[in-house]
Amino acid sequence: MIYRVLEITEKLQQDCCKVVKASVGNANASGFALQEWLNKYGFVMFVAEENNNISGFILGHQNYDMSCLQSLFVDKKCQRHGIGTALLKAYEEYSVGRGVNRIVFLPPVSEQAKKFCLKNGYLMISTGRLFRKTL
Ligand SMILES: CC(C)(COP(=O)(O)OP(=O)(O)OC[C@H]1O[C@@H](n2cnc3c(N)ncnc32)[C@H](O)[C@@H]1OP(=O)(O)O)[C@@H](O)C(=O)NCCC(=O)NCCS
Repeated sequence: MIYRVLEITEKLQQDCCKVVKASVGNANASGFALQEWLNKYGFVMFVAEENNNISGFILGHQNYDMSCLQSLFVDKKCQRHGIGTALLKAYEEYSVGRGVNRIVFLPPVSEQAKKFCLKNGYLMISTGRLFRKTL
């Protein structure tokens, strides 16, 4: 199930940190100040949840008619089952409904991220780092 998050509970914060760690092994994942990003900066967030387990999340923010994707993580155990794509679709659909006509994303430099972006219709627009999709 994919749903939009408005309120970050302590448990959700911890679960999302676990997803980051499980997806990229980032020891600093606890530095993800999700509640602050949602409240203070107006970020939009969706999570993927199955049987009470968070398997992934996506986070970004809108600037006029453009949206900037900040983060997309799927737990390694759950990867290659379409969860990343489903999260991205939910985010894109929500964004279109808010008047967004393009999304930009600066993902981590990795073959995995690059292939995922290209598969989802994003075009690489500068030196292999920045991706963009017109909605
Ligand atoms: C990138 C990431 C979000 C993809 O999540 P996911 O749920 O595995 O993605 P999906 O199952 O929806 O994959 C969609 C397509 O992306 C491509 N893809 C995803 N992971 C890939 C990998 N490891 N190697 C090659 N292609 C890959 C494939 O084309 C895949 O389609 P297919 O499985 O039918 O071949 C996940 O691997 C992740 O969290 N990575 C670490 C964090 C990161 O890089 N975030 C930036 C995201 S761009």
